[in-house]
Amino acid sequence: MSSILRIALQKSGRLSEDSYQLFKECGIRFDYGTGKLKSVSSNFPAEFLFLRDDDIPGYVEDGVADLGIVGENVAVESTHQVETVHRLGFSKCRLSLAIPRATDWNGIHDLAGKSIATSYPRILGNYLQEKQISAEIHEISGSVEIAPGIGLAEAICDIVSSGSTLLSNGLKEVEVIFRSEAILIARPTLEAEKQTLLEKLLFRIKAVQAAKN
Ligand code: PRP
Ligand code: ZN
Ligand code: MG
Repeated sequence: MSSILRIALQKSGRLSEDSYQLFKECGIRFDYGTGKLKSVSSNFPAEFLFLRDDDIPGYVEDGVADLGIVGENVAVESTHQVETVHRLGFSKCRLSLAIPRATDWNGIHDLAGKSIATSYPRILGNYLQEKQISAEIHEISGSVEIAPGIGLAEAICDIVSSGSTLLSNGLKEVEVIFRSEAILIARPTLEAEKQTLLEKLLFRIKAVQAAKN
């Protein structure tokens, strides 16, 4: 069998260390952190690609990668068609609304007519629609927490993990709109050989998870 699984991982960020650790615990060895963006495993038919997390669903859909590990937040926000294969249980975080610490909060209706900065316009848009609130969504791709402080928006909607980014930017979390964890995604139509490899990988991942529970 000459097939090899191409697995996309976040290059550096909240998911990276946990993702590397998962493969280590699965007994799958590869080099990372050397600055190289590609690494072939020395003991499992897999090649790892180190990419920006937001780009991973697109690469998986296009077949550049067969599998990927991303936050559920990234997969749900993405318009790319990928399959969720397995929930990984790590890198838990929430997508929350936050406002300046000194601003009063009486509930979600306070956002009516306000502008909200976010990198998650689709998830936020659906949420606001569900709550029947009309607000302006201001899409920015990073450093969202700075927006209220520079007058770009009155609120933000972004990922919160420890909460330290909010704290250091004078913001308070007022509403959780989505809870997320790392997930394994795949191209919906994997060739038979790759599917067999995926099943081997899943078997190991489940064994690692079972040992922790
Ligand atoms: C999120 C978010 C904040 C940070 C919050 O970024 O955008 O920057 O994490 O974490 P904290 O509550 O522990 O301070 P993410 O890891 O999703 O990276 P990215 O925006 O660069 O993709
Ligand atoms: Zn990202
Ligand atoms: Mg960020």
